[in-house]
Parts: sequence; structure tokens; C-alpha cells
Amino acid sequence: MRRLVSETTLRPRQLILPLFVAEGAQEPRPIGSMPGVVQHTRDTLRRAAAEAVEAGVGGLMLFGVPATRDAVGSAATDVDGILNVALRDLRSDLGDDTVLMADTCLDEFTDHGHCGVLDASGTVDNDATLDRYAEMALAQAEAGAHMLGPSGMMDGQVGVIRRALDDADYAETGILAYSAKYASAFYGPFREAVDSQLTGDRNTYQQDPGNAREALREIELDIAEGADAVMVKPALAYLDIVKAAAEASPVPVAAYNISGEYSMIEGAAANGWIDRERTILEVLTSIRRAGADLILTYWAAEAAAWLD
Ligand code: PBG
Repeated sequence: MRRLVSETTLRPRQLILPLFVAEGAQEPRPIGSMPGVVQHTRDTLRRAAAEAVEAGVGGLMLFGVPATRDAVGSAATDVDGILNVALRDLRSDLGDDTVLMADTCLDEFTDHGHCGVLDASGTVDNDATLDRYAEMALAQAEAGAHMLGPSGMMDGQVGVIRRALDDADYAETGILAYSAKYASAFYGPFREAVDSQLTGDRNTYQQDPGNAREALREIELDIAEGADAVMVKPALAYLDIVKAAAEASPVPVAAYNISGEYSMIEGAAANGWIDRERTILEVLTSIRRAGADLILTYWAAEAAAWLD
């Protein structure tokens, strides 16, 4: 009877698995603060991606960890850069069996760790960054990404990427916009995951955790600029925003169950303080209940197997 009247569905196709691939890695490198998550080699990435697709996940979100970094994040737009090479690997293995997505952001590739390029005073230069995002988008579309995930929170990023794609005949490449992305302490473990070089913070371009109305404004702007789906991030401390976005948005809403949310549960479960599987399914259900159509989660493949 409980199954009959259950209000919230949680299905593998609603889950997107974020994956990390490191240039030059000979073995998968464990990420200490995210037990169970690794920086993949090109080969182990291919295997993990195939397994996740086999388990039924709806999509993959790929992040690259380059061997060398510079001020403008050159490796992000290099056809031989690790993220673009890995996208080509996965597209050739998986074709259209899954929705292959890429993080369209410079922070993994810059030697200062910011999501954009800096001006002479060391501040992130919004408009100069947009030019780099357009180039990065084209490199990723060319490498086979079905959908791009601009996550840098620069004003105008969705519009610039949409135009660049359309002008280069990539009209079918979609955009999953990180629209309401908060300046959050929960990104901590991700910094280790991508060997981030960041020393300051992202308060000048990500949202203030206290602001809700601003999130809806960001979502509206991204939709007007051509976003095919919008995202709220992090998920758990922002379920009110997920709900408001789901009520307002005419396009699908994603929520990113981020690194720190993953690590808290893994840490507590490893100590025997909580039941791991029940907690994970409860968390994912809560994000769906709040209204997210899609969930990015490091548990995507494992949870998909349970749900099957
Ligand atoms: C930026 C980006 C970040 C995450 C996804 N894309 C880091 C940041 O904005 O600081 C965080 C994901 C996570 O914490 O799991 N490229």
C-alpha cells in the first residue's frame, strides 16, 4: 500500500554521475575527502562510464584535471587537453547511449583557481571570461559533448555559449546552466578532487547563501539566454530554492548533490553513525520531493543499481 500511494519517484534515468579524469594518471588516484571517488585515468574513466550507463544513469558530467595550468586556462580549449580528449573517448565508446556532459568552466585549468580570467587588479574579468567560455564550448561540442554545463556564474555566459554553438552549427548541443550556484563551504572536497589552486573565494561571482529572490532572477536570465535546463547548487542546504525553481521554471530543473554533501554522509557512515544506503536514498528522495527533475550525485551509478 505504501508503494501504491508513494508521491515521489526516484529513477536511475534522473541521476547524472559526475566523473573526474586526470591527465597523465597511470592509476586511479583516490580523493581523500571523497572516499570511493577517484581521479580516473583515461582507461578507468571509460570503464566507469560504461558501467554507469549500464546501470541506467541518465547522464555523465565530466571534469578534467590537467597536468599544467596557466592564467587563462589554456588546457581547457586545447583539442588535446584532458577534458576534450576524454570527451572524445567517451563519445566514441558510448555514442548516444547516454547524455554526455562537460563542465564548461576554467577553474580546473587556471593557475589561480578562479572560474575566469583576471584583470590587472586580480579581479575576475566577467566579459573577458565570456570569450574564453565561447572557445571552450566549441572545443567541447567538437569533442562530442551532448550538453554543456557552464558553472562559472559569469553574467551572460549562457547567451554567449548559445550563440557560439549556433554560429558553428552545433545547434543541437544543449546547455545545462548552473544558474543558482551559491558560494558554499560544501565545495571543500571538490577542491581536492580537481587539485584546485584557489586561495581566495568566489564571493564576487557566486551567490550569497542568504539570497533566495536572486536565484529566481538568475534562473530567469539563463532561460532567456537559451538554457535548456537550469541548476540549483548545492542541493541539501538549498531545497527551498530547488522548490521555488521547480515552481517557476518552464525548463527542467537539476540539483547538484555536491562533494561536501557526499563526504558528510560517507564520513558518518564510515563511523557507523548512520545507515549509509538508507541515508543516501533518503537524501536523493528529498531532492526529488523538493522538485528537482534531475540530480547530479556521486552516488548515481550505485544508487541506480539499488533502484533497479
Ligand atoms: C566549477 C565547479 C565546482 C563544482 C562544480 N563545478 C566548484 C566551485 O564552483 O567551487 C563543485 C562540485 C562539487 O562540490 O561537488 N568548475
